Amino acid sequence: MTSNDFKHVRKAVFPVAGLGTRFLPATKTVPKEMLPVVDRPLIQYAVDEAIAAGCDTLVFVTNRYKHAVADYFDTAYELEQRLERSGKDELLQLVRDVLPAHVRAVFVTQAEARGLGHAVLCAKPVIGDEPFAVLLPDDLIWSDGPGALAQMLELARARSAGVVAVQDVPRAQTGSYGIVDVPSFSGSSGRIEAMVEKPKPEVAPSTLAVVGRYVLPARIFELLENTEPGSGGEIQLTDGIAALLDEIPMMAHRFQGRRFDCGSRIGLIQATIQFALEHDDLADAARAYMRAALAQVQPEQTV
Ligand code: G1P
Repeated sequence: MTSNDFKHVRKAVFPVAGLGTRFLPATKTVPKEMLPVVDRPLIQYAVDEAIAAGCDTLVFVTNRYKHAVADYFDTAYELEQRLERSGKDELLQLVRDVLPAHVRAVFVTQAEARGLGHAVLCAKPVIGDEPFAVLLPDDLIWSDGPGALAQMLELARARSAGVVAVQDVPRAQTGSYGIVDVPSFSGSSGRIEAMVEKPKPEVAPSTLAVVGRYVLPARIFELLENTEPGSGGEIQLTDGIAALLDEIPMMAHRFQGRRFDCGSRIGLIQATIQFALEHDDLADAARAYMRAALAQVQPEQTV
């Protein structure tokens, strides 16, 4: 029997099979999930968020060009030995913390790029009949309290419901997101009545956009198996969730934190600035440089 008990969500799915065309030519050889924000690749932030929320099985849905992601999470014996021998304990710890010992990484391949819903479906053999989380690493969420997924799991447990992270966007941008219809909110959450992928602004049911964090029951797999290609000719996770709404409660959660769209160049730049300001050893230098850079730009802008 498929369990809708959201008490124990241990598995997290990371769809990382996208092409990353917005970062070409860098993404010719470097998967976009491996682009660094300060000193860690984008994927590490999503992985840390999942582990902090209690997940211990990480399922990466990759394609055949993304060996770098698997290599990154593999143990680097030679490097570790070298660091150990030369007494570089701090660096050694950094390398080992990429994946703590109690966490396992599983890689599944999405042979064809058939959409986010299809990518999630590829994780079915590893997930089985447990509820699980989905994190899109492009959406980097900075939070000085509990991470976005931890907030969502608390809600999922309290309400025995699936959860989708949302944030308000300008109406002109609805065509870039899954959009939810939530008639009423109580605090930061409300039950989703409808969900539609990338609607045009004039037909969007609201301006509440889905951000790349989901807590879902395994039932979604059967629904995705029967989901026809939708927006962009792809099998959309949004359409699978829309079919789920009649069966189990799905909540929208306005998370605490700031989301950076690192699928876009400006989002990656903004995230880099934000995280540089979070590093004690970088903050002062980063602030000083930004002040200087802006001071040089200003005279040009005023002429
Ligand atoms: C995907 C989802 C969309 C969601 C978005 C969040 O779209 O399909 O519903 O709002 O992620 O980042 P993508 O950005 O992959 O086109």
